[in-house]
Amino acid sequence: MAVLPVVTFPDPVLRQRCKEVTAFDADLHKLLDDMGQTMATAEGIGLAANQVGDLRRLFLMDVHIDDNTRTGLLEIVNPRIVAKRGEVRFEEGCLSFPGVFEFVVRANEIELHYQDRTGAAHKIICRGMVAICAQHEYDHLEGVTFIDRLSPLKRQLALRDYDRRNREALDDKTARAKARARRQPPQQIS
Ligand code: CO
Repeated sequence: MAVLPVVTFPDPVLRQRCKEVTAFDADLHKLLDDMGQTMATAEGIGLAANQVGDLRRLFLMDVHIDDNTRTGLLEIVNPRIVAKRGEVRFEEGCLSFPGVFEFVVRANEIELHYQDRTGAAHKIICRGMVAICAQHEYDHLEGVTFIDRLSPLKRQLALRDYDRRNREALDDKTARAKARARRQPPQQIS
């Protein structure tokens, strides 16, 4: 198993639609295993395949329902949301938008049909946090991010903050690299 690099906005792979999984083989299992380790390491509650640069139609969830209950690791392949009920507003974050947290309105209950890693079909009802997470991850598979669910103004403000933070982080990195370069002895050319 390996921890994969998580792609961050504005990487174009986040805008791509993931394709139906047809091969339930060792390669799929490796991707799911690696994504499981990646999500646990990043302490995320959900991770979609295109967030690690793979365009297979699948995501993972491991959601805390309350202080004592969590779903455990769910591997959701070829998901379909077949029903939505109610409405809930929750402040979401995303591993692909470090530091961004915004309120998004979603359905409070969904009926989710999917396949597991063996190809077996499942139908579950998700509520509350599990429903929120499943809809957020499902959106990723459609090339949609939670930022797209905001009003144009909110989105503009969130992205301006995000860009500024990234620029500052980059400036820090450049300053550190320059300091390192100054410390290097001159190269011997012979
Ligand atoms: Co996300």
